Amino acid sequence: MIKPHGSQTLTPLFVEDQLEREVLLEEAKSFPKLLLDSSSAANAVMLGAGYFTPLEGYMNRADALSVADTMMTSSGLFWPVPCLNRTDDISQIKETEKIALLDPNMPGNPVLAIQTVDSIEEISSEDLKQMTERTFGTLDESHPGVGTFLSAGRYIVSGPIRVLNYSYFEKDFPDTFRTAVQIREDISSRGWETVVAFQTRNPMHRAHEELCKMAKKAVNADGVLIHMLLGKLKKGDIPADVRDAAIRKMVELYFPANTVMITGYGFDMLYAGPREAVLHAIFRQNAGCTHLIVGRDHAGVGNYYGPFDAQEIFKTLPQGALEIEIFNADHTAYSRKLNKVVMMRDVPDHTSEDFVMLSGTKVREMLAAGEPLPEEFARPEVAKILMDYYMSEA
Ligand code: ADX
Repeated sequence: MIKPHGSQTLTPLFVEDQLEREVLLEEAKSFPKLLLDSSSAANAVMLGAGYFTPLEGYMNRADALSVADTMMTSSGLFWPVPCLNRTDDISQIKETEKIALLDPNMPGNPVLAIQTVDSIEEISSEDLKQMTERTFGTLDESHPGVGTFLSAGRYIVSGPIRVLNYSYFEKDFPDTFRTAVQIREDISSRGWETVVAFQTRNPMHRAHEELCKMAKKAVNADGVLIHMLLGKLKKGDIPADVRDAAIRKMVELYFPANTVMITGYGFDMLYAGPREAVLHAIFRQNAGCTHLIVGRDHAGVGNYYGPFDAQEIFKTLPQGALEIEIFNADHTAYSRKLNKVVMMRDVPDHTSEDFVMLSGTKVREMLAAGEPLPEEFARPEVAKILMDYYMSEA
């Protein structure tokens, strides 16, 4: 199987042994506490689940600046996005060695992880500007990821962590939340060797379904890993449970049996376009996938990134940075001429009128108004699940 990023083996930071977990939880009672913000908690979940192999915890200022600037840590590990624990309140954790990290997303804020504090550093506004600009390509606060990043705490608390649970993801998405360890095991027990991953934060329409089928065929894969984001999204995006139900229905009805694994990961969406695409590639490699589909405006938002910037960035990476390969997908849509979903690069004779195309905004407007989505765009069974959700919200 494909080797994890920067390591011979996966390094999940979750404490597997139940007894040890209980002991650590008991010990944590006497540790100073730090209430995490949602992004820092999501980083802990990803570290716990092995997706962020080979990181051992949260980065310090030097690593974060170096990663933002050059996609390399100071010790030369290739990594595209700072992995940080940020806070404004260090009053409880100064001069302590071990701290308990509290989960902001669970009632009662239970302990999510334990951290050995290597350093607590204040980041200047210059540092913050540089990290934001390099990671997101913009400083515009109306970009949802930038808004979150700029408003997070000004101290960064670095050091290794040990993770004690998976926050709300296991309980809320028992059939879908999977760790990188579990996905590797599943891939291996299915006997799959070539696996194409599909990243998504949206329900899957016909274009997405076809993207998966085209990529599977093109790389002669044994199967497809649909790997959906289960964490926090911007307002207006479809909630994970509705999207999960819609995706399950699509796979059940429109894919051959045993060719797709439906899974999800616990991370908040960054909307960082190209840099997030590279992070996506790393954690799919860690999950044992050989290919990742990168299509139009991957991990993008608004007009902050060019439609294929997330493909271009992979051409600029140092040789050997990643083992996973990228399946670059062109804009995909239903062709009225051919009566099927196609990639635009495959039909140079078409004009834009030949395609059935709906923007995300248009789709939301139609659903909110109770208007059915065209069958060329969405499978009717999938559209029904989305319509039911919109009607229940109305
Ligand atoms: S993302 O933020 O998770 O990337 P989304 O769930 O919409 O958003 O997209 C999932 C994947 O499908 C991404 O690789 C994206 O580039 C690709 N994609 C979505 N729609 C299209 C389309 N019409 N044509 C080509 N690629 C697409």
